[in-house]
Amino acid sequence: RAMTILKEFEEKSGTPISKLRQVADAMTVEMHAGLASEGGSKLKMIISYVDNLPTGDEKGLFYALDLGGTNFRVLRVLLGGKEYGVVKQEFVEVSIPPHLMIGSSDALFDYIAEALKKFVDTESEGLHVSPGRQRELGFTFSFPVRQTSISSGTLIKWTKGFSIEEVVGQDVVAELTKAIERVGLDMRVTALVNDTIGTLAGGRYYNKDVIAAVILGTGTNAAYVERANAIPKWPGLLPKSGEMVINMEWGNFRSSHLPLTEYDNALDVESLNPGEQIFEKMISGMYLGEVVRRVLCKMAEEAAFFGDTVPPKLKIPFILRTPDMSAMHHDMTPDLKVVGSKLKDILEVSNSSLKMRKVIVALCEIVATRGARLSAAGIVGILKKLGRDTIKDSEKQKSVVALDGGLFEHYTKFRECMESTLKELLGEEVSENIVIEHSNDGSGIGAALLAASHSQYIGLDS
Ligand code: BG6
Ligand code: GLC
Repeated sequence: RAMTILKEFEEKSGTPISKLRQVADAMTVEMHAGLASEGGSKLKMIISYVDNLPTGDEKGLFYALDLGGTNFRVLRVLLGGKEYGVVKQEFVEVSIPPHLMIGSSDALFDYIAEALKKFVDTESEGLHVSPGRQRELGFTFSFPVRQTSISSGTLIKWTKGFSIEEVVGQDVVAELTKAIERVGLDMRVTALVNDTIGTLAGGRYYNKDVIAAVILGTGTNAAYVERANAIPKWPGLLPKSGEMVINMEWGNFRSSHLPLTEYDNALDVESLNPGEQIFEKMISGMYLGEVVRRVLCKMAEEAAFFGDTVPPKLKIPFILRTPDMSAMHHDMTPDLKVVGSKLKDILEVSNSSLKMRKVIVALCEIVATRGARLSAAGIVGILKKLGRDTIKDSEKQKSVVALDGGLFEHYTKFRECMESTLKELLGEEVSENIVIEHSNDGSGIGAALLAASHSQYIGLDS
């Protein structure tokens, strides 16, 4: 009976290549719709106000603050222009206490500003801004923001584990700036960016062929470089560069072609943001383990998978985290020892048989494969929009996609499946031309670079 539940889930989660092509096509269609008009699509296709990506000329000491992944980080980056590149970079990583993610605006921003202040206090002799100058910060805020300029924007909605109602509709730079003042720091936010935009900027700094960035972490999203005249909803004068970076917010993508199951629907209904971020809920690190838990729960309740009683812990939402799922999925020991110990530690199931453990590995495989294949389809959707899904190697135009996020970095089977699916979708010849590049913490550097290129001192001697 448990096997029937598993099989049924596997069938409903299927991502044959024909379906992935439909998903990729739907992504391209929604991209067009989102660019055509505000509210024209589930894809917000947010104009980032980044119309120039880093050139390498950026110089000076800049700060960056990265909020919205698993941890938040503050960085100090010394940029030395073309000659010296990134001369020095220092950072600290701080975890956000969960109660602050659902508390008040002031509490969250004060906590961040305090951490920033502490970090600024460790500035050393050789590493500080020039005398008489204000410190400048690139703020990576990884949520959907309606940008009003490169350095301001209002929060459209929270995603992932955050939910602080009073911030929605507020300018997040103003909120941060008030907190910075409250802690007595003299610092100005000169760039507000999404993590995808930061990753794209950081990626481009090192490799001029980078045309898009994708985050596969707690959440998932993508950004890419669009032609400015392909953005009908763009309100102002076209930028001189003729380009504009677009934050797709692809986590909110939805299509009838997505293989959604009863477990996805239940997860969605009971989530902090029902009806939203459906693509994200099938793909990203915050949710994969939770989908596995839900299927296991059904197997326990309806097929006595764990014996006569349902392990009480199994009923707790989000108790099975994606890193634990990944550890079980990668278990190479003959008797699946890792699976056994995870079951014991997390669910307090101490008598698991080898057969049960195998079922669990199979379940992890189904959930991870679906997510990985859908993310590959998303990338193909972008390449199609750019007309880069058919360029053969002989034509020698490389397209590099910068990737970052904990899921991509640590979940090897997910990453490998995503990459092989991309090849499968693009075909041998084209895929020679598409490069997936890990941009490790690129968004921090990227935000610092954008803070530099939008510095209030630009044009003055540095
Ligand atoms: C980091 C980037 O490496 O990945 C962040 O620097 C990004 O900007 C993060 O938000 C996403 O991954 P995760 O796993 O922390 O959500
Ligand atoms: C969520 C956010 C998005 C972010 C992504 C990855 O989807 O809405 O802004 O880029 O997570 O962190």
